[in-house]
Amino acid sequence: MRGWMGKFRSLFLFGALTLLLAGCGEENLSALKPKGYGAELLLDLMLISIAIMIFVFIIVMAIYAFVLVRYREKKGQEHIIPKQTEGNKTLEVIWTVIPIILLLVLAIPTVQATFDLADKSTQGDEGVITIDVTANQYWWQFTYADQEIATSQELYIPTGERVYLNMKSSDVIHSFWLPSIAGKMDTNPGENMNTMYLEAYEEGVYWGHCAELCGPSHSLMDFRVIAVSQDEYDQWVEDMKNIDPEATPETTTAQEGQELFNNNCMSCHAIGGASAGVGPNLANFGNREKIAGILEPTKENLVDWIVHPDEIKPGNQMPTEIVSEEEASKIADYLLQLQHSDVGTDVPTQNEDE
Ligand code: CUA
Repeated sequence: MRGWMGKFRSLFLFGALTLLLAGCGEENLSALKPKGYGAELLLDLMLISIAIMIFVFIIVMAIYAFVLVRYREKKGQEHIIPKQTEGNKTLEVIWTVIPIILLLVLAIPTVQATFDLADKSTQGDEGVITIDVTANQYWWQFTYADQEIATSQELYIPTGERVYLNMKSSDVIHSFWLPSIAGKMDTNPGENMNTMYLEAYEEGVYWGHCAELCGPSHSLMDFRVIAVSQDEYDQWVEDMKNIDPEATPETTTAQEGQELFNNNCMSCHAIGGASAGVGPNLANFGNREKIAGILEPTKENLVDWIVHPDEIKPGNQMPTEIVSEEEASKIADYLLQLQHSDVGTDVPTQNEDE
């Protein structure tokens, strides 16, 4: 009796867990809710494989149940052995051919999708955007080579268009994973460059993660992709190109912050232009959705980050305590007013409550 109760209990638990976890799909982070071409292709493949597995499961279970019932030991027939079928050619052929057919059904669209996703035929054509992506422990740099724009952590793209990414790493292997738009691609150190493309259907802020264990802060290596209309994208490029790195901020504290920043931080960071340093280019820092890819964009968080980056992202390259908290507060004032473009700020971010 207890055994049965136990089984029911675990069955119930698994059922409840399945329902609960099925609700975990975030609109802008889920491969199950595709918002871009690559993700849609990958979901189709997943559905085909699941359908095949369910088909095989049902057939096997049906045969299993049939045999259990049909050949059950009956009273008075305890020692009767059913007719043996080993070496039956017809059966052997059937259960060899069926899996081959199933594998073909799976293999053909998989190979097609693999070639489709690796297609680079339009790269380099007039008007086609290519962005250089460099992964670093633990942040992402995006350089728009044609436009002389460098930015980090937040990648702007136009919707409805293929945007190519040329990807590499400056240190160890990372992996660029944007589940709701395009799947995943490794970034390698050295000469080996990988290319993938993004094609977002709708405007939105999509979340990406590093998907390759790359060090103690691997799980904190997040980024955002902000897809906007073509017009807004053009506007963003204009705004970014016109950034004056030396522009004087309005408030006195921000001005002091600018000086502190120039003296202490500029050897690694940059503001505007296309320069790629040891640290992120902070051109549009004030427009960012997150600080360091993970923190809410409040001044308090930024001061914490500037003074104790090691506590927030262990193992990262930013030196710790090079400025006092008071100085960091001024630098924060300076950085947070670096709002050079309002493009993308009204783009819906689903599941803000996460
Ligand atoms: Cu970079 Cu994990």
